[in-house]
Amino acid sequence: MFKMLLWCLCWKNCIQFHLNLQLRSVSWCVLSGAEERKCLDLAGNATALNIKGSLQCIRGLSARDCMDKIKNGTADAASMSADDIYAAGLCHGLDLAAGESHNRVDGISYYVVAMARRSSSDLSLLEMHELSSCHPGIRTTVGWTVPIGYLVNTSQISVGEQCNFPKAVGNFFGYSCVPGVKDPQHDPRGNNPRNLCEACIGDENDRHICANNHRERHYGEAGALRCVAENLGDVAFVKHTTIFDNVDGNNQESWALDLELEDLKLLCPDGTDADLDEYERCHLAAVPTNAVVVRVEDKCRVWKYLERLQNAFGNATVGFGLFSSAGYGASDLLFSDATHHLQRVLGRYTSWLGPSYTTMLQAFECEGKIPYAFTLDLLMAACVHCSCSHYRVLLMTGFC
Ligand SMILES: *[C@@H]1O[C@H](CO)[C@@H](O)[C@H](O)[C@H]1NC(C)=O
Ligand SMILES: *[C@@H]1O[C@H](CO)[C@@H](O)[C@H](O)[C@H]1NC(C)=O
Ligand SMILES: *[C@@H]1O[C@H](CO)[C@@H](O)[C@H](O)[C@H]1NC(C)=O
Ligand SMILES: *[C@@H]1O[C@H](CO)[C@@H](O)[C@H](O)[C@H]1NC(C)=O
Repeated sequence: MFKMLLWCLCWKNCIQFHLNLQLRSVSWCVLSGAEERKCLDLAGNATALNIKGSLQCIRGLSARDCMDKIKNGTADAASMSADDIYAAGLCHGLDLAAGESHNRVDGISYYVVAMARRSSSDLSLLEMHELSSCHPGIRTTVGWTVPIGYLVNTSQISVGEQCNFPKAVGNFFGYSCVPGVKDPQHDPRGNNPRNLCEACIGDENDRHICANNHRERHYGEAGALRCVAENLGDVAFVKHTTIFDNVDGNNQESWALDLELEDLKLLCPDGTDADLDEYERCHLAAVPTNAVVVRVEDKCRVWKYLERLQNAFGNATVGFGLFSSAGYGASDLLFSDATHHLQRVLGRYTSWLGPSYTTMLQAFECEGKIPYAFTLDLLMAACVHCSCSHYRVLLMTGFC
């Protein structure tokens, strides 16, 4: 333990030294060649305009790799999605410098809602026991993290000492479609409950049932909606936009052409129900937009630099556009293309994630039991947020 402390102190000094040397430069962790090209163009344009500071672009392998690089000072910043922001904050002690504001409510990307047929009377989100449910996929924000977090938070399911979420969910619902729940990657012991695939239908030839891809016709948000529209599930967990993306000819599949907005309703967390356009008050969680992950001591420095960049390139109609990915052959590079502007994040990362979403994620911390047990299931539960190897280190050192 003492050795560990010494190592930390030294490591911290090294980082500090490194920072002093490079005070004016921000190195951005990018995930693809297209993102790297946009980053380099931004760096070149910023230098050409004599914007104070400089930008470097560093290739990362994944969001987790970028977190490691930011933590050890190899990189300074990266844009990340909501689930990754939570992992970066909880497991790595990182924080946020800025977040995206899209043209709707500040800092909110979408709402996770529970949708049911209007004809299903007497349905309540507070009494879901034995009902059937349709989920876009295992370990997705919309289809797993938020709805299961809600069921834990409302004490409808209890994961017990084992922290075995699939088992608890299987015992709770009558039958469900959770695509991918039986994949070896998510079910290493092969004992995840079968009823979590019983509302799945596979492809036209009854193959690929419960597959974690589009061959399973109940996969994804449209698939979960279809599962309820076709009467297999009582409730679907989807985005508030999913329904509007699939009606009025936006989806040419026959199940969607038959669908009428009047046929469906939202189920609210307080047990009541509401019309489809009432998602702002009737949702399970408001999922925040992407934000820029940095080390705590860099919050201010990186924000100042981003502020200068967005003043120069944030609403350019000619020249380099900070929030456009046109010309790079991909979308959402560095920032989401839907971004209107960046706003400073003054509080901790949890303030950006917001109370409803943070509450849902906290359910997966398994009531603080994670640091005390070493079972495989527990590690699998922990892997929702932290990589296994990282968690193993935490378990052994008692950190996090
Ligand atoms: C500025 O950005 C444009 C793309 O918008 C790029 O073609 C150009 O090379 C960049 N300029 C510099 C100096 O890097
Ligand atoms: C920092 O972390 C990255 C990612 O894990 C690793 O590749 C790199 O070697 C590390 N650098 C230092 C200086 O520790
Ligand atoms: C561009 O955006 C900045 C804020 O990002 C704003 O202050 C400025 O007025 C905008 N300029 C134009 C021409 O819209
Ligand atoms: C979670 O549960 C607590 C107490 O049971 C409740 O006060 C809170 O509103 C719940 N949060 C959500 C988002 O449902």
